[in-house]
Amino acid sequence: MKSITLRKSFVNDIPGIEELYQRAAVHEGGLARTASEITRDYVEHFVSKSIYSGIEIIAAGDEPGRIVGEIHCYANGIAALSHVLTDLTIAVDPEYQGKGVGRMLFTELLNDVTVNRPDILRVELIARESNLRAISFYESLGFKKEGRLTKRIKRSNGDFEDDLVMGWLR
Ligand SMILES: CC(C)(COP(=O)(O)OP(=O)(O)OC[C@H]1O[C@@H](n2cnc3c(N)ncnc32)[C@H](O)[C@@H]1OP(=O)(O)O)[C@@H](O)C(=O)NCCC(=O)NCCS
Repeated sequence: MKSITLRKSFVNDIPGIEELYQRAAVHEGGLARTASEITRDYVEHFVSKSIYSGIEIIAAGDEPGRIVGEIHCYANGIAALSHVLTDLTIAVDPEYQGKGVGRMLFTELLNDVTVNRPDILRVELIARESNLRAISFYESLGFKKEGRLTKRIKRSNGDFEDDLVMGWLR
């Protein structure tokens, strides 16, 4: 694999992260948003929340300025949920998928929580039920299936599928 560097994100990474999410959203079945729903507002919102209250890590490849993977989660600002990082989302550039980038990003994020965020007891994510490879991947990292959100996802062909809630506990 080409060399990959992991680092925390900065606000000036927003355009590169937006491009990454657009590329990752082209294939239906992973991210909930379509490419046209990956807007600057959406990316600015999660980058600022992650920098302020959560964690965001990006993977940079050999090409200058190109972000090939990103993971983030954040606290939602409610005191009763201040021990929870939520809305976890990960995207890896389709050209780099299946080469270990996703596992590197997740491992780094969970290590950061374990070492640097004693205030965080729980990290949670939602995965669509048909994304079987992603679900087994999350289980291999210690996430457990906790519940089902029935017919939460509407596919482009009009069919519905369930979302699974998964949680990782310190
Ligand atoms: C899911 C995703 C983040 C995995 O990242 P990746 O870099 O491809 O994964 P890795 O190469 O580190 O492999 C980790 C595991 O992910 C699984 N995986 C690999 N490619 C995958 C793909 N295209 N889709 C889903 N899972 C995949 C494998 O089972 C692998 O398990 P293994 O290590 O036991 O072989 C990435 O494929 C992606 O961005 N998909 C599109 C967006 C998406 O689905 N986001 C998650 C929404 S919940």
